[in-house]
Amino acid sequence: GTLMAEEAKKLAAYAAVDTHIQNNQVVGVGSGSTIVYAVDRLGKTKICFLSIVLIQARQLILQHGLTLSDLERHPELDVAIDGADEVDAALTLIKGGGGCLTQEKIVAGCAKHFIVIADYRKDSKALGQQWKKGVPVEVIPMAYVPVSRAIARRFGGEAVLRMAVSKAGPVVTDNSNFILDWKFEHAQKWKEVNTAIKMIPGVVETGLFVGMAERVYFGMEDGSV
Ligand code: A5P
Repeated sequence: GTLMAEEAKKLAAYAAVDTHIQNNQVVGVGSGSTIVYAVDRLGKTKICFLSIVLIQARQLILQHGLTLSDLERHPELDVAIDGADEVDAALTLIKGGGGCLTQEKIVAGCAKHFIVIADYRKDSKALGQQWKKGVPVEVIPMAYVPVSRAIARRFGGEAVLRMAVSKAGPVVTDNSNFILDWKFEHAQKWKEVNTAIKMIPGVVETGLFVGMAERVYFGMEDGSV
């Protein structure tokens, strides 16, 4: 039978931890459902300091008996490990489906090696074409309308304010900002687009991770990684 996505996430996470993380290293951990398996593996096999900026990952780290740190004490990380919503052949990522992207990008940027773990569904031929969820962009709340208009005008498609699921109003990020989901028509030059969007006043960060991931581990349906 074919592997369920959860099992595939676990395979990818275990392989990445076993290959890239040694005892006593400073490890950056992102958020999402795949990273849970990596922390589980770290807790069982490694003695390490985890540098977490992500509010999302704090409880996870503590539950697994790992040491919590921060970028003040450990501004340089040996490795950062994180999930992704989509990965293309150039290892450009879309992240932020769960609402976290700015803190994840900061942590990844502080690491000597940034390793991504994902199940087979995240393997994307053209970013944005399969899931149609677009690229998340974190914005300062007062600027969400002008930023949304600027993105649509310059790059096409539409940038929609992400709304909360079980309450009225927009999703609020860990940094007290809003998220626009930019849904676009065509593939773009991601490096240029990422830079151009970041230059729009009010944009905090984009969910495009260009040239950051060093290696991506996919758990496949046939049980391979
Ligand atoms: C959080 O906002 C994201 O950047 C996650 O890293 C990404 O959504 C992956 O999540 P899963 O591991 O749950 O797919």
